[in-house]
Amino acid sequence: MCGIVAYIGWQDAMPIVLDGLKKLEYRGYDSAGLAILEDKKIEIRRVAGKVAALENLVCENPLVGSIGIGHTRWATHGVPNEQNAHPHMGVSDRIVVVHNGIVENFLELREELVAKGVEFKSETDTETIAHLVEIYYRETNDLVLAVRKTLKKLKGAHGLVVMSTVEPEKLIAARLGNAGGVALGVGENEMFIASDIPAIVNHTRMMTFLESAHLAVVTRDGFMLQDLEGDSVNGVVEEVPWDAVAAEKGKYRHFMQKEIHEQVRSLADTLSGRIDYESHRIWLPGLNLSAAKAKKIKKIFITACGTAAYTGMVGKTLIEQIARVPVEVMVASEFRYADPILEEGTVVLVISQSGETADTLAAMEEARSKGTEVWSIVNAIGSQAMRVADGSISMQVGPEIGVASTKAFTAPVLDLYMLAVYLADLRGGLEEARRIELIEDLLSVPSFVERALAREDQVREVAERYKDMQGALYLGRGINMPIAYEGALKLKEISYKHAEGYPAGEMKHGPIALVDEHMPVIVIASQDPWYDKMVSQIEQTKARNGKVIAIATDGDERIGELADEVLWIPAVPWLLSPVVTVIPLQLFAYHVAALNGLDIDQPRNLAKSVTVE
Ligand code: AGP
Repeated sequence: MCGIVAYIGWQDAMPIVLDGLKKLEYRGYDSAGLAILEDKKIEIRRVAGKVAALENLVCENPLVGSIGIGHTRWATHGVPNEQNAHPHMGVSDRIVVVHNGIVENFLELREELVAKGVEFKSETDTETIAHLVEIYYRETNDLVLAVRKTLKKLKGAHGLVVMSTVEPEKLIAARLGNAGGVALGVGENEMFIASDIPAIVNHTRMMTFLESAHLAVVTRDGFMLQDLEGDSVNGVVEEVPWDAVAAEKGKYRHFMQKEIHEQVRSLADTLSGRIDYESHRIWLPGLNLSAAKAKKIKKIFITACGTAAYTGMVGKTLIEQIARVPVEVMVASEFRYADPILEEGTVVLVISQSGETADTLAAMEEARSKGTEVWSIVNAIGSQAMRVADGSISMQVGPEIGVASTKAFTAPVLDLYMLAVYLADLRGGLEEARRIELIEDLLSVPSFVERALAREDQVREVAERYKDMQGALYLGRGINMPIAYEGALKLKEISYKHAEGYPAGEMKHGPIALVDEHMPVIVIASQDPWYDKMVSQIEQTKARNGKVIAIATDGDERIGELADEVLWIPAVPWLLSPVVTVIPLQLFAYHVAALNGLDIDQPRNLAKSVTVE
C-alpha cells in the first residue's frame, strides 16, 4: 500500500528518490518523506500530502548525498500528517526506516518498548521497527543481525529498507510475507531499491525480487541475500521487459485516460504469442497443461478482488459456455475464511493486476494448503502471484498506473476466453469449425475496441449532462452483469458518486424503488442472449420516469427510441461483448470525474496495490 524507493551509488540520491516516489504514488499518497545520508549524518524531510509537496520542500532546502531512502504513504496507523510520515528514526537518530505493511503485534511491541523507556514520536506501527533495530544494534553491534532479529519479532507482512549512520555504506532491504514486492535494481556501481518496477526502470532493467523472509545487504557494488538465519541465498538478476516510457502520461491528462485508450494495443499484446494463426489454436505454455491433465479438471474456482473479481465473473460464463467446465467465483477477501470445498480435480485461478493484493495472495496460500493446483492471471512481472502459481498467464499490458483499473480489466477477459478455448480443445470438446470461429472473433476484438473508443466525444457530451447527478444504477444481465458492477465501481472510485451495479432481473425485487426522474439508470443492452430482457428493463424504468442511458449496438432503433441517451458500440460477438460494453462505461466515469475536477489517478482513500488485509 505504501511505496518505497532507495538508492546507493555515485549520483545525487535526492532526485532519484523523488522521481521514484512520483512513480509509486499510485500505491498511496497521503504523506511522503525522504532521508539522505551524507558525512555520517542523516537528514530527513517529510510532509503531509503528495510527493509534489515534498518536492517543493526539498527544492527550498535541498539535501545532498549519494545514499537515500524515500516513502509515499497510505495511512494505516495514525492520521496522514508530517509526524506520521516515513522515514521513522530510532531514539538516537542513527537508524531510519521506510516500511510497507502492518505490524500486527504493534500494540504489544509498543508497550514493551515504552516499558524500556522508549519515547514514541509518531502514532505509526513503523516506528517500533526503527526502535527495535536500534535496540538490537546496541546489543550486537551488527546492523544486519539487528534487522534479522527485528524481523523475527514482527507479525504481519512487510517490505522495508533500513539506512544508518552506524554502518553507512550499506542499505538493508527486507521482505516478510506478502506486503508487496521489493525489487533490487542493479546499475554500474549503484543500486536501486523499490516497491515496484516503474520507480527504478528508468535507471536499470536488471533486477531481482526479494522472496519472503529474505533480506538484502545492498552496497554500491551489488547485493548479498540471506534468510532470517543469516544463511546466504541466491537471487537471479534478470532483465525486465517493460518500457519505462509506458509509465509516462504522454499526451493524456491522466493515466486513466491514457490507459483506456491503450486498450487497442494492450489487447493485441495480450493475444500476442498465444495464437497459432495457421491452425487456429491457442497456446498457453505458462500453464504447463497437457491434454491428460486438462481432462482431469472438474472445476475451476476463480478468486480475486474488485475489478479483477468482475473479470472472473465474465470468465465464468466464458469457461462454462466454451469449455463446459463448471466455474465458481468468490471474492478473495472471503475465500480463506469460507473454508472452501476444493475437491480433487479443482484448480484455483487467481486474477490480479498487481500480483500483490494481500487477500488474493492469502487465497493462493489457502488453496495451496489444501493441496490444490493454483493458476494465476497477473500483470506485474515478477510479482508474488506470478511467481508462486503452478501455472500463470501474463496479461502483457505494461504498467497500469491509474488507481481505477481499465486495461487490466479487459486483458484478462481475453486471457480467460483463450483459456476457455484452450481447455475445450485439450479436452476434445471443440469442433474445428467452432474453434476457427471463436479464434476469428477473438482476433477482431482490438478493432471493436478501437471503434468504441472513437466515440469518446459522444460519451463526454452525455457525461456533461449527467455530471451533477447524485448517483446512478447500472444494470446488466448474463455475461454483461459483471459489466454493470464494473461500470458502477469505476464511477464511485473516481467521482465519489454513489453507484450500484445490479443484475437487471433483481430490479423489481427492491432497487426499482430508487427510480425517479433524478436517478439515471445505465442499462447494458448489447446484442447478447439477454437483449430482450434488457429492453423490457428499459421500459420498466421509463414507466417510472427514470432516465435511461443505454449501451446499445449501432443501428439498434428500438433502443434508440426508448432510451434518453445511447452510448453506441459496434456489433460484437456476444461472448466477447464485455470487452466492448465496458469501454463507454470507463469513458463515462472518467469524464464525469474530469468534469468535476477530481484527482482521477489518485482518488481519495484508495491505493493501487492493496497489500494489507
Ligand atoms: C479497480 O479499479 C480497483 N482499484 C480495485 O478494485 C482492484 O481491481 C483490486 O484492488 C484488485 O487489485 P489487483 O488486480 O491488483 O489484485
